[in-house]
Amino acid sequence: MKPLSAVMPALSFSLALGLSLVSTVVMAEGVSLPIDTLHSRISLPNVSPANSALANRGAYVARTADCMACHREDYSGGVPIETPIGNIYSTNITPSKKYGIGNYTEADLKKALRKGRAPGHQIYPAMPYPSYHGLTDDDVSALFAYFQTVPIVDKPPEKTTHLPFPLNIRSLMLAWNVINVPSTENRSGLTQTQQRGEYLVNNLEHCGTCHTPRNLTQGLDKDRYLSGAPLGKWFAPNITPDNDTGIGRWSEMDIVTYLRTGTLDKHAYAGGPMAEAVAHSTRYLTDEDLIAMASYLKVVPAIKTDDYLIPVNISRLPQPVSNSITYNLLEQKDYLAQAKTNAVTSANNSGLNINSPKDLYLANCASCHGVDGYAQPDARYASIVGLSSIRRVKPDALVGVIAFGAKGAFNTAPKMPGFSKDLSPAQIASITNYVRVTFGGLPNSDVSAADVTRVIKEKS
Ligand code: HEC
Ligand code: HEC
Ligand code: HEC
Repeated sequence: MKPLSAVMPALSFSLALGLSLVSTVVMAEGVSLPIDTLHSRISLPNVSPANSALANRGAYVARTADCMACHREDYSGGVPIETPIGNIYSTNITPSKKYGIGNYTEADLKKALRKGRAPGHQIYPAMPYPSYHGLTDDDVSALFAYFQTVPIVDKPPEKTTHLPFPLNIRSLMLAWNVINVPSTENRSGLTQTQQRGEYLVNNLEHCGTCHTPRNLTQGLDKDRYLSGAPLGKWFAPNITPDNDTGIGRWSEMDIVTYLRTGTLDKHAYAGGPMAEAVAHSTRYLTDEDLIAMASYLKVVPAIKTDDYLIPVNISRLPQPVSNSITYNLLEQKDYLAQAKTNAVTSANNSGLNINSPKDLYLANCASCHGVDGYAQPDARYASIVGLSSIRRVKPDALVGVIAFGAKGAFNTAPKMPGFSKDLSPAQIASITNYVRVTFGGLPNSDVSAADVTRVIKEKS
């Protein structure tokens, strides 16, 4: 006979996650948020009534731990993780006995996740075991049950890790682990909600692997916890509650909205790596879990960095050109045609391919972001008005996006191309200044061609 939980998995799953149909969410502090201001949560594609309640809880835990971001949607592996010592490729973690983790016991999985020790070899910390170190026994059991239900992919990943000697000596990691595991500390004096938030932020979601700067050994620098770090061609900003350089001015609801949808009107748009974290993980979380993370992020120590944010000056931001989509598009078409003609004429006349900043923006960017920065209304491109990435004192993140493009997981439309080949550093500088002043509301901006050259060199 099947246990009750197998007969009514959907019910026990909702109970386990607290997904009851209540219309208000009451937080530990007694603040209550109407649920209709929260964008509703998308149902989990990897949950099935055919599986046990434990396995389905594991499907949720796998979402909160974002395993898919690195091991692929089908867990077949082969995704490169860029590290200073070279690319490390994720592995097949389907239940294949030959190529995956089909021979793992629950104890093996626990050791792999918490200690970075797979049967027979040490795992590189490109796999975030320094964060997973704090996983509870219950969550490991749920993950174990879930991974047994995942369809088997019976082949090796397309690419595997080949590091040169001595970096290929995996046991070197044992010394590294002594210094860097666990990667975070637990705070005292937290409410129950905040404790759940801490567990999510530090252990499951491992937010710090991107947002915390690294120490000399490439472990997480606990003294600069969540204060922002470069990430390949991107920059993961300061998410401590500092008002001037972090997200201190965001309300808890702002944080929840951003993690649920990847956007926060006139503040932030998740592109690149953050878009992937939202797409694979945070948008699937329960309201309770998102609120717990937001509540926790409000009480971590505020750290001020030198990357100041210029607050949004709403009065300086442009108004949307028109509310009427058809009219808007026609108007934008005229602007673009004009801008392209201007670009060609002035290039011909001057022999230099440099035009007015506005024309450069219109010719290269407005077809996606709109003449007014609010994005083409019928395409799902990003509105760039007011974004924090264009209001930083350091223009590096914005220059990086223009030079190298963005590939977020949200858009079915064409991705944002990089312009470092087609535009000169002077032209990119000129567009950068135009975007910061016009759409960021900055009083002025003096990014130079030399700044652009430096950023391109640093990020290449
Ligand atoms: C940030 C990227 C990343 C995330 C997130 C991630 N992994 Fe990994 N994982 C890797 C990489 C890279 C490797 C291979 C490391 C190596 O070669 O030493 C790996 C290896 C593993 C291994 C070892 C396989 C073996 O036998 O060698 C297991 C098990 C594993 N991951 C499970 C998981 C599970 C379960 C999750 C989610 C809870 C997860 N991983 C999340 C990157 C990631
Ligand atoms: C894989 C790396 C990565 C992970 C994991 C990650 N982030 Fe991010 N995050 C980024 C990057 C990069 C940006 C900048 C996005 C942009 O400008 O498009 C960002 C932006 C943000 C912002 C917007 C800040 C601002 O000022 O605009 C917030 C808030 C945020 N992340 C919170 C989180 C939280 C909370 C977690 C864990 C649940 C998390 N992030 C996990 C890389 C990451
Ligand atoms: C083909 C369409 C397209 C063009 C052309 C384009 N973009 Fe984008 N841009 C996008 C999309 C789509 C995103 C959102 C990122 C994503 O999810 O891929 C984006 C994101 C951005 C962001 C937000 C980055 C962040 O995460 O904070 C900025 C700023 C930006 N673009 C500026 C520009 C500028 C300036 C130009 C012209 C030099 C330009 N874009 C040209 C499509 C485009």
